[in-house]
Amino acid sequence: MSRIFSGVQPTSIPTLGNYLGAMRNFAALQEGNECIYCIVDEHAITVPQDPAEIQKNIHNLAALYLAIGIDPKRSILFIQSEVPCHAQLGWIMQCTSTMGELERMTQFKDKSKGKQAIPAGLLTYPPLMAADILLYQTELVPVGADQKQHMELTRDLAERFNKKYGEVFTLPEPYIPPVGARIMSLAEPTKKMSKSDSNRKATIFTLDSEKDIIKKIKAATTDTEASIRYDRESKPGVSNLLDIFSLCTGRSIDELTTAYEGKGYGAFKADVAEAVVATLKPIQERYQQLIGSPELDQILDEGAEKAYEIAKKTLKAAEKALGIGRAN
Ligand code: TYM
Repeated sequence: MSRIFSGVQPTSIPTLGNYLGAMRNFAALQEGNECIYCIVDEHAITVPQDPAEIQKNIHNLAALYLAIGIDPKRSILFIQSEVPCHAQLGWIMQCTSTMGELERMTQFKDKSKGKQAIPAGLLTYPPLMAADILLYQTELVPVGADQKQHMELTRDLAERFNKKYGEVFTLPEPYIPPVGARIMSLAEPTKKMSKSDSNRKATIFTLDSEKDIIKKIKAATTDTEASIRYDRESKPGVSNLLDIFSLCTGRSIDELTTAYEGKGYGAFKADVAEAVVATLKPIQERYQQLIGSPELDQILDEGAEKAYEIAKKTLKAAEKALGIGRAN
């Protein structure tokens, strides 16, 4: 039995990448583990957000968490900003970090590139993420490959703190799936599928209609070779579709390449689209039943209370170790 923690930002509807790389594992890991899942709204405001939009996205994400199978009887589901310990330990983690190590984060470099006024929160985002994880004495963190560097920093900060002030934090391990950790853009398969891609054909959102999913996969960039085999280097588009196909059907890549030998991209893409639709449809149906239900608020209220009970103990221990407040 392990303590699991992970979070998703409430910025638009989660993508197929979010689902296959992380969220489907959130649901699976509930079996035999103690899971805590978070809507990380304080992370979302590291870049400007429209208040009405983020409010809507928080509710939608809560419904989606339940729709993918997060069971509030077994797991804790809550909103980050409703448990103030996150911002409090986030500050302590900022004071544990150095500018150099934060400036080296590739996500910071990517997101700040070309910006004239870089929000300071973009730089201090990883110590807040470390706080999210460390507050719950987390052992395992299911995430996609893009969070690997943030996870390494989290471990470094925890270790540094523990060495200097005494053993307060558990060192967490990332749980990065062997397939699906980096679902690529359908339009430019050498870059990550992302919520914020300006090309609407690049990204499948978990609530996309059947028609849109079929259209996007049909238009996915492949190559001129017309052979269905797995090669991330020279055939990134086909390989990405094979990853998606395999994850949505449970069939191995080898089984799929054998089954599609000699077949054209048209038939292959149609079957990939069908598999994605079949995966997302039951989630979308549950989502429609849940969205707007009063039960959602009750689940989030209870989640925040339970999360606070755990988080406050770690925060207190960290403050006591540092000698701040009247902790002793
Ligand atoms: P976020 O909201 O960007 O993404 C949520 C999860 O989805 C994964 N992911 C992907 N996986 C595979 N292929 C993709 N194309 C893809 N795009 C996104 C992400 O790796 C992530 O696991 N910093 C985090 C949120 C966070 C967090 C935390 C996560 C804040 N505190 C504590 C874990 C623990 C983020 O921006 O995720």
